[in-house]
Amino acid sequence: MKVVAGNWKMNLTLPEAVELVKSIQPVSSVKVIVFPPALFAVPVTRHACRGIETGVQNIHHEDFGAYTGEVSAPMAVSIGMKYALVGHSERRHIFGETDEQVNLKVKKALEHGLKVIMCVGETLQERESGRAFEVVERQVREGLKGIDDLSSVMIAYEPVWAIGTGKNATPQQAQEMHEFIKKIVDVPVLYGGSVKPSNARELLSQKDVDGVLVGGASLKADSFNEIIRIASELS
Ligand code: 13P
Repeated sequence: MKVVAGNWKMNLTLPEAVELVKSIQPVSSVKVIVFPPALFAVPVTRHACRGIETGVQNIHHEDFGAYTGEVSAPMAVSIGMKYALVGHSERRHIFGETDEQVNLKVKKALEHGLKVIMCVGETLQERESGRAFEVVERQVREGLKGIDDLSSVMIAYEPVWAIGTGKNATPQQAQEMHEFIKKIVDVPVLYGGSVKPSNARELLSQKDVDGVLVGGASLKADSFNEIIRIASELS
């Protein structure tokens, strides 16, 4: 079953978020997940019935405590969320999240029964200097260190140079990296980075592309629904 996940990042107001989740048209042959801003998690999760699951965009690696501004795995579970996005490149590069912190967060999410989508991906400089595979292998190995049961883990390969730039990896580049990741760990691998209706079919047709993690195009019901429809034809 293909996965279509929408990462809304720090976008939308409450009425827009509720309207968007109500407008999503899931299909039974596709796993549809949305990651709303934490502030809108409760109403979005409440309206996300009918085959849409929700997740938190980031969690802290402790359960509770004096960590102003953070949210935790037990909080997400307590409102009915099923997923945690961990190690998104914006967390790594803007907020300085390390592989070690990513690993703690993955463990914490799994401990509380959340499924995890762990993001990995190289920067443009790393790709141009021929280090893309080495960087992604390190992120995969370090992020999942000490975790034996990977049945609730998916990886999202999101090359940093393709995020929000309109420049998606070619389907061949995605396939090559997904195949590489799957040789390290046997988990579903999603592709993220400028996915839109016009390139979703070719990306999702690749043998090792098990789904997509969509940013910008998940903010409009029309484009997100179109990507779900395309995925359903390939599931
Ligand atoms: P865009 O689809 O806007 O490039 O964002 C991708 C992403 O970061 C999803 O997590």
